[in-house]
Amino acid sequence: MREGQTAVIHRADYQAPAYWIDTVELCFDLDPAKTRVLNRMRIRRNPDVPPQPLKLDGDELNLARVLVNGQGTSFKMEGGRLVLENLPEGSEPFELEIFTTCCPAKNSKLMGLYVSNDSFFTQCEAEGFRRITYFLDRPDVMASYTVLLRADKRKYPVLLSNGNLVDHGDLEDGRHFAKWVDPFRKPCYLFALVAGQLVAREQKIVARNGKEHLLQVFVRPGDLDKTEHAMNSLMASVAWDEARFGLPLDLERFMIVATSDFNMGAMENKGLNIFNTKYVLANQATATDTDFGNIESVVGHEYFHNWTGNRVTCRDWFQLSLKEGLTVFRDQEFSQDLAGEASARAVKRIEDVRVLRTAQFPEDAGPMAHPVRPDQYLEINNFYTVTVYEKGAEVVRMMQTLVGREGFERGMTLYFQRHDGHAVTCDDFAQAIADANTQSPLYEKLGQFKRWYSQAGTPRVRAVPQWEAGTGTWRLQLSQSNPPTPGQADKQPQVIPIAWGLIGQDGRELASGMHVLTEAHDTLVVENLASEPVPSLLRGFSAPVILDFDYSDGQLLALLEHDTDPFNRWEAAQRLAVRSALAAIHHGGEVTLDAHFVEAMRHILRHPTLDSAFKELVLTLPAETYIAEQLDVVDPQHVHAVRESMRQQLATALQPDWEAAYEANKDSGAYSPDPVSSGRRALAGLALTHLCIAARLSSDTVWPGKAYQRFKDASNMTDRFNALSALVVGGSDLARPALQKFHAMFKDEALVLDKWFALQAGAPDRGGNVLPAVKQLMQHPDFNVRNPNRARSLIFSYCSANPGAFHRADAAGYVFWSDRVMELDAINPQVAARLARALDRWRKLAEPMRGAAREAIARVAAKPDLSNDVREVVTRALA
Ligand code: PHE
Ligand code: ZN
Repeated sequence: MREGQTAVIHRADYQAPAYWIDTVELCFDLDPAKTRVLNRMRIRRNPDVPPQPLKLDGDELNLARVLVNGQGTSFKMEGGRLVLENLPEGSEPFELEIFTTCCPAKNSKLMGLYVSNDSFFTQCEAEGFRRITYFLDRPDVMASYTVLLRADKRKYPVLLSNGNLVDHGDLEDGRHFAKWVDPFRKPCYLFALVAGQLVAREQKIVARNGKEHLLQVFVRPGDLDKTEHAMNSLMASVAWDEARFGLPLDLERFMIVATSDFNMGAMENKGLNIFNTKYVLANQATATDTDFGNIESVVGHEYFHNWTGNRVTCRDWFQLSLKEGLTVFRDQEFSQDLAGEASARAVKRIEDVRVLRTAQFPEDAGPMAHPVRPDQYLEINNFYTVTVYEKGAEVVRMMQTLVGREGFERGMTLYFQRHDGHAVTCDDFAQAIADANTQSPLYEKLGQFKRWYSQAGTPRVRAVPQWEAGTGTWRLQLSQSNPPTPGQADKQPQVIPIAWGLIGQDGRELASGMHVLTEAHDTLVVENLASEPVPSLLRGFSAPVILDFDYSDGQLLALLEHDTDPFNRWEAAQRLAVRSALAAIHHGGEVTLDAHFVEAMRHILRHPTLDSAFKELVLTLPAETYIAEQLDVVDPQHVHAVRESMRQQLATALQPDWEAAYEANKDSGAYSPDPVSSGRRALAGLALTHLCIAARLSSDTVWPGKAYQRFKDASNMTDRFNALSALVVGGSDLARPALQKFHAMFKDEALVLDKWFALQAGAPDRGGNVLPAVKQLMQHPDFNVRNPNRARSLIFSYCSANPGAFHRADAAGYVFWSDRVMELDAINPQVAARLARALDRWRKLAEPMRGAAREAIARVAAKPDLSNDVREVVTRALA
């Protein structure tokens, strides 16, 4: 193993720390080129562990001095760690003082202490604190923090850290200081500091118990007019967690700070959440409805971590889903509860399932497949995945399904009674939910249920019906299986809650229930039926599985028309569309959409009472990646062509209906991002896209003209961007001038420029034109590969979100990908490793893409000084 390379870490090797750190006093002299950090800790030996040297983690630090109880001491360095052997014996605490320096200005990894737009920010999860000072950088070491910040007052007027501000004042030489004390013990990954020229929107709130709290959203001075929605979302989050789970805000002050340089979405540091600007800043002129919705859920997510993550944290990083799966579940519930009506809740559920199936299912079937609670990793940053987050949330959701909503709330209460203030495991969580519900199937089957945490892969449920007309008996034979995944050849049956209903010939619901499948094979029996029913299975997507049922087209049309479960109505349309796509792909030829399907779509589009948001979901064809997952061998360009052809047929066949939908939805009134009006804008946007597609086929210029007009006159970003997108997707000549105008209008709005780059990189490929355009945009003065949002907007939008343009037979897309992965790896390994995942599914590709993709991955793997992050991804891909 070379210097700096670490070994694979195994969950089974967990050992309690040999020392506890009880208190930490940190003193920072902030300077971009050389920040000085004095770290004074009270440490004691862990009496439960045999005596051994203290080994502190560190990364890219310059060590100046180490003192034990005020005296110099001997130490050595071991693979980046600071090792202290001659420590006081016995159980008495001792004081360890470590003085280091680091260089925030040169920190392009954005882990640890870094500079963004002349302000200081920190990011410590998962293992960034060791880039600030030597420490036991592991979540089960929880300490009380006191933080003293010192900096130039003019350049850094605002100085923030976790907890409460207890002192502040001026120093000599134009410097000032602020002292913060966090009243709660915490693991070091929740430490944060911010220093810079920032302004805050402030809001005082009074909690149920009458206590007052100060909420603050800090941004750069020009951005205050984009903070109202984030503040509203934060207030709603505080109220929701109190109302739904009885969990109050436990701090006098709660701060959110936005930065435009951030690797992820946001971070739940105690009392001082740091956010990517993308998930804070919004007003109607610059942000779309989707942005508004994302801000609501990310603000909620980070706030909810205060209890699920911070008050109760993870024992080790293998337990990441303990906080992430649970907190995603909570933010999903929050957004559903805010959406209000049943139909709006269903829309949110469909959107969440769409993410799961288009992103998590492929992950679970590919080389990076891992259990919700992984067993090993080389680099923990690679395990902030859709499996840990979204599948983890589905596992929590199934628990709620099995114990009921009230039972789940009881379980949460027990969880906090048992574990508040501690670092625990996924097992502890499941045990608490079960123990609070001893009459439930979860309690009865807990051991088996926990296979959801240990087994990777998406289970398949096969359901075969049998109808006995004579006795009116309907039987459903159920069987489950789970395909092998890397390192897991054999799987055991899992606990699969299947919500079901039966629809009669007349479209009425005959029966419904919940069947908990626990065996490999089982039968569900319903008696006394007058005629053969159409089953609606896995309602609301009651388990994260693939359901195989040989529906006839007629049955799916019946479900689309009559099912009382909105999720399965949508699902019926998706199944019909996938079926058409697969038939066309297998027969190598053109798609001709089934006339019944087209009529059903027309019926939905014209429906007098269905929500616009729901119509938009039903009328949107399944994603190319979702279609590709149903195939053994994938030609992404062919998949793209087939889906495009289906879209063109819907555009042409339903033209008058799209026109009617556009006219009926195009005016959504004074802007508000609520579900009803955003649904109207979404459907108007989808209609406009189809009208522009149809116009291209018939060389009509009226609709592109209308789209251009709307693009110019729109009073909000959603309508403006949808119109621009319609022109780009429709391949109109007006797309070019519109893109130019858009750039000129928003040249000072970084988040809008991200959209501008992303739209072009994600455009439908016309004769291989997207890659040259992307390469050209890399030269654009506004492009900056060091800014993660900008890199994602151009490079990821092409490599990860535009399969039809990326998977070129000449391999040029893959060469571009490998160049970018290597370029980014030298700057920011986390971002590079995410991009590296764009070729996860290379083994499914048809030749010549398959061979070319493997070569490109091998090219990256052969690079000598690769980060652990990228090395792990490409090694697994080739294994
Ligand atoms: N813990 C953060 C969240 O999910 C995500 C994150 C992980 C952010 C690592 C930064 C670094 O809310
Ligand atoms: Zn989270």
